[in-house]
Amino acid sequence: VVVPLILAGGQGTRLWPMSRAARPKQFLPLTGPTSLFQQTLQRVADPRYAPAVIITNSEYRFLVGEQAAEIGAPLAGVLLEPVARNTAMAIAAASCFIVQHFGPEAVIHVLPSDHNVTADAGYWLAVDQAIAAAGSGQLVTFGINPTHPETGFGYIKSDAVVGGEARPVQRFVEKPDAARAVEMLAEGGYLWNSGMFMLGARAFLAEAGRLAPDMHEAAGAAVRGAREDLDFIRLEEAAFARAPNISVDYAIFEKTERAAVVAVDFRWSDLGSWDAVWKNGTQDEGRNVTSGQVTLSEVSGSLVISDHAHVAVTGLEDIAVIATNDAIYVGRLSEAQRVGEMVKRLRARK
Ligand code: GDD
Ligand code: MG
Repeated sequence: VVVPLILAGGQGTRLWPMSRAARPKQFLPLTGPTSLFQQTLQRVADPRYAPAVIITNSEYRFLVGEQAAEIGAPLAGVLLEPVARNTAMAIAAASCFIVQHFGPEAVIHVLPSDHNVTADAGYWLAVDQAIAAAGSGQLVTFGINPTHPETGFGYIKSDAVVGGEARPVQRFVEKPDAARAVEMLAEGGYLWNSGMFMLGARAFLAEAGRLAPDMHEAAGAAVRGAREDLDFIRLEEAAFARAPNISVDYAIFEKTERAAVVAVDFRWSDLGSWDAVWKNGTQDEGRNVTSGQVTLSEVSGSLVISDHAHVAVTGLEDIAVIATNDAIYVGRLSEAQRVGEMVKRLRARK
């Protein structure tokens, strides 16, 4: 059985102020009538899969419940994290839950909830290759041909080719600095980590036990001590909080020798920052993307979004203007990665 596991607990800070701690980007209708979380659920409504397991922060439980009900998606469980401990612990705890409910032979398809993905024939071919490789004990990543020296992604060295089988990962480098990213692109043979994984439950937990024993212990205890609350499963707080705050990329994939990669070229983007929203949006003749009540004059290459007030901009280019009810962001679109740092400063001031 293949169990979809949707990671829906991130805060999406680089999309401030649209994405807020109380309503992060995966739950926003950024690209159409449904949210990226709902689109992820729709993608796993397929005979290959059992009903999905969701893991999220307890603050988002009603958003998850309402948005799943709205599209009629069946769920096998909604696990609630008492505190955020990043993706390694989220996946480890959910894996323990999945073993309890589906047995140790379960294959887990880990899916971020905030990606814009076109699931075409090539996508499904890669999924099936990954399921086969995960069944033989490999921890499978999905690799995408890099197009520029992005520093926000993981890089995977391997000889995998699009349409071919899973191949061993020779090296995994999470979020390199700019110089290292340029070097890897020049060297060649690297793919970007898409952030989706296909994991045999038994193999993943065995690797977690070896590479991150504290986390493995905490995950088991958090699931054993879990209690049901309405439609949700609350993971036990003291155990969960003991886990280190680290992503699965650093904790497992940079270290393991059991990683494999399937190369894919499906349309994919991590709508992680405003420039990505702009690139993926529908651009007008001035290469502007707008949403809400917006008037532009002599503006080009810009993103202007308002969910409330009427926003008018004249004579600018490469600008992001994001206006919400209680906060407004204005900045250079090409420096959109800086929003994350700024939000950290805002939070520190509170
Ligand atoms: N449940 C839960 N709990 N989910 C979380 C948590 C958490 O504490 N933290 C993050 N997530 C969710 C996010 O909502 C997102 O769907 C997914 O996990 C990945 O987290 P990100 O924070 O978006 O990771 P990233 O984009 O910086 O990096 C990852 O994805 C890249 C591709 O988009 C890495 O896997 C990179 O290697 C990869 O290239
Ligand atoms: Mg991301």
